[in-house]
Amino acid sequence: MPAKFSRKHSVSCEEPILTDRHSVVFAALIAATSVSTIVPQINAFTSAAAAASELFSVIDKRSELDPLDGSGKMPGDRCDRSIEITNLAFAYPSRPGAPVLRDFNISLPAGKTTALVGASGSGKSTVVGLLERWYAPSSGSIMLDGIDISDYNTQWLRSRIRLVQQV
Ligand SMILES: Nc1ncnc2c1ncn2[C@@H]1O[C@H](COP(=O)(O)OP(=O)(O)OP(=O)(O)O)[C@@H](O)[C@H]1O
Ligand SMILES: [Mg+2]
Repeated sequence: MPAKFSRKHSVSCEEPILTDRHSVVFAALIAATSVSTIVPQINAFTSAAAAASELFSVIDKRSELDPLDGSGKMPGDRCDRSIEITNLAFAYPSRPGAPVLRDFNISLPAGKTTALVGASGSGKSTVVGLLERWYAPSSGSIMLDGIDISDYNTQWLRSRIRLVQQV
């Protein structure tokens, strides 16, 4: 006896199993899954973006004592190297309330050996740091051969000072 198939339940070969509607539903499901994976990380992205903008603003900030700045005096080797420090006051920018030098005066004649002697933490290395212009004094002046060290080319100035750190 031949099998009877109802026309109602037969599948036509011309009808695709997955229609456009199915594709849209699957795409929406996949998109929803992806979004739900990303959403919890948005907080981290926001914090990273805020931190990066702060970091870039620090990197882009122009240094007041830019060693790459080509301006300033470069007198070659023709200078006597006498140093005159007058009424120098200084506090590190990280500790503005703790003055390291106050009304500091010293004359270092050219061609003489001068020793800075003082208790640990009294500011000896700070004086050398200011001479090399790693920091700018709060007030007072440091003159090299009668010219304020801020008028010299920073690279030139630093290349003429040698510091051997104590151990
Ligand atoms: N980069 C810095 N930021 C903030 N404070 C600093 C910094 N460097 C030094 N100081 C502080 O400045 C003061 C003077 O320090 P400095 O290193 O000039 O003393 P020093 O006389 O060279 O001491 P030492 O004989 O131990 O080398 C100290 O109180 C020190 O803690
Ligand atoms: Mg020191």
